[in-house]
Amino acid sequence: MAKKLVRSVFDFEEGFIETIAEVPEKEPEAWAPERSMRVASKGHPRVDGYARTSGDARYALDIQLPRMAYGRVLRSWIPHGRIRKIDTSEAEKVPGVLGIMTYVNAPKIRWYRDSTLFDPHVRYEGDEVAFVVAETEEALEQALSKIHVEYEELPFVLDAEEAMKPTAPKLFKNGNVRDGKPRIYERGDIQKGFAEADAVVEDTFRTQVVHHAPLEPHVCVVNWEGDRLTIWESTQATFRVQQGIASILKVPLNKVRVINAFMGAGFGSKLGIEKHTVMAALMARQIGRPVKVVTPRKDEFLSMGNRPASVQKLKVGAKKDGTLTAISLWSVGPGGAYRSGSAYLGTPAREMYKCANVRTEEYTVYVNTGPARAMRAPGHVQAFFALDSILDELAEKIGMDPLDFRMANIAEIDQVRKRPYTSKRLKEAYEAGARAIGWYERRNKVPGSGKGPLKRGLGVASQIWGGGGGPPAFATVEINRDGTVVVHSGSQDIGTGTRTIVAQVAAEELGLDLDRVSVVIGDTALCPYGPTSGGSITAASLTPAVQAAAVEARERLKDYAAAVLGVEPERVSYEPGRYYLTEDPSKSVSFEEAARKMGNNMVVTTGARGPNPKGYTINSFGAQFAEVEVDVETGKVRVLKIVAAHDIGRAINPLTVRSQFEGGIIMGMGYALTEERWLDPQVGRQVNPNLHEYKVPTLADIPEIEVIIVSEADTKANTVGGKGIGEPCIIPTAAAIANAVYNAIGVRVKELPITPDRVLRALGKA
Ligand code: MOS
Repeated sequence: MAKKLVRSVFDFEEGFIETIAEVPEKEPEAWAPERSMRVASKGHPRVDGYARTSGDARYALDIQLPRMAYGRVLRSWIPHGRIRKIDTSEAEKVPGVLGIMTYVNAPKIRWYRDSTLFDPHVRYEGDEVAFVVAETEEALEQALSKIHVEYEELPFVLDAEEAMKPTAPKLFKNGNVRDGKPRIYERGDIQKGFAEADAVVEDTFRTQVVHHAPLEPHVCVVNWEGDRLTIWESTQATFRVQQGIASILKVPLNKVRVINAFMGAGFGSKLGIEKHTVMAALMARQIGRPVKVVTPRKDEFLSMGNRPASVQKLKVGAKKDGTLTAISLWSVGPGGAYRSGSAYLGTPAREMYKCANVRTEEYTVYVNTGPARAMRAPGHVQAFFALDSILDELAEKIGMDPLDFRMANIAEIDQVRKRPYTSKRLKEAYEAGARAIGWYERRNKVPGSGKGPLKRGLGVASQIWGGGGGPPAFATVEINRDGTVVVHSGSQDIGTGTRTIVAQVAAEELGLDLDRVSVVIGDTALCPYGPTSGGSITAASLTPAVQAAAVEARERLKDYAAAVLGVEPERVSYEPGRYYLTEDPSKSVSFEEAARKMGNNMVVTTGARGPNPKGYTINSFGAQFAEVEVDVETGKVRVLKIVAAHDIGRAINPLTVRSQFEGGIIMGMGYALTEERWLDPQVGRQVNPNLHEYKVPTLADIPEIEVIIVSEADTKANTVGGKGIGEPCIIPTAAAIANAVYNAIGVRVKELPITPDRVLRALGKA
């Protein structure tokens, strides 16, 4: 297949970046919105659903190898200090202990930007201090409890605003503000914008730290066979783990295999190379045995990432006719103890609503807590709570319906890059959602006017996100002599249903039923490169590559069909399931017959993702509407209904799209109402690092959820026409709930989570 090199691809951390990607010279014909679909765009149950629910699916946790040992990290129990002395002698005597690694005997491996694999300067409760490997988990526990660490304790800082002060304890010698300065963006003239406004609102919003809390913790199993290393790892980035481990351990890539067939979610907490995987690989090599690491739930909370808190100072202005004239945002959030995730959140202020004059100033600050990591729509979830709250305040001040105000400020183009979108159906989303929830009929015209004590209210919020994906992404298609098909691609399934959409797209192009296609993913030894599952890019990046490989495979099989028909391939045409003589369609060969003709030959093709269109921005859009009931005596908020109306391009599988929405909305509800990391300010340690006191929603909390897809295939974006949905679905939920609470009780809670005490305080009752 002829290839050319293009620049400009999508990177899930950086967005669109200029780099080199191998893309096909010619792409298959895009699936037009009106194309009649047989398999794709249909709501098929997951092809691996039975395996997942029956226990047949093998997760990293299920891997057991002969002579396998168990490893675990000992973590700092103080938030800030230097290790003065570490005594492992007693632990070494525990029967079954195979090795202990600390900063004293470990190789110096650089980590984050300013630290090492084992850093004697510990910067948060949960920082890595030692790694123990033992024959059994019992011996492991015992040994961990017998390591004695003496710290020189240092003053610590937990709050981002505190950490910005010059007098605050410093985590690094260059100070606590990441990069030493804020990120600043300006367009238009912000002062002029406020001067033109008929109404200006200024307010401060705060959000809490929450955790990813994936059902499956971080797990790895490492196994050396001579100089070859195999790693089973629960990760969103199978290839990145392979590349990272290979470069850290200086092993060539062809000797490192990473396998990730099934995983129990990640939500952004499994995007990187984990320290414990490197430690396990080092120790496994040293002791000549496989090593398994299962991260305890407490360590998940302390060390495996979080959505950072935020303080957002917003000032917005509008004219009486609803024209937004100025948006100013100042924000700060804690990045935690190291450069991992960030607390930047200014994109929605810059891009969601049409506004000529915008200024954003954003800070990420180091504090002595677990490092932040990207978490399902990082930044946007925090940002929309504040932005859509203050927009409602402004709408009320100019006497406009909050939904009408949003519709009056739909941005026709990407205002930052000054170019059109490939598609945008935001207005349709607002309208469809409003109809479904009964916005104009059922919303309280006067907030808080219900009788009580159970007061109901409606709220709305918006959403923008990327999810257009891009190259590089590859897939191979193999046709077997019995007419069955295997698709390989290295992407993993974070839990969204990757295998299923890959099978659907291949089956669609090959004219086969879904059960004739099997899919191999998540294995660097078997599969060509597939993208990281982050930034909601998987579907839009990967499926066009699968489609391209399938189209070429179909063409190649035509040679065998022609041989059966006894004519030249040029005289043969294809339609789903069969090849036929173009001049006489009654003479045909089925896909299976053509495949049988191959004998021991095989059709193997590779497809690559094409480039994104020049001069366009690809974004997803949407709106969610919440109906809540607030008990003004207890302060308890109950979510009754969420309507989610979104533009996601083509829904490749409406059933798995629906399940993404349910997950995202439920997670957004937890963010809005119950989830919060509690730190003890006296000692700098987390009080609730467990799923009992850290309150994720349960079945009892789940409201009615209505999902409306207002879009059709976005063929400008890519040949399959899909845009990502894994993250968009959580973005507006908390903001819509907060606005609904205001509509119910007539006072605004400006800090998340909206707990009963905050509601009662807002009502002046506590
Ligand atoms: Mo996502 S936060 O890019 O897994």
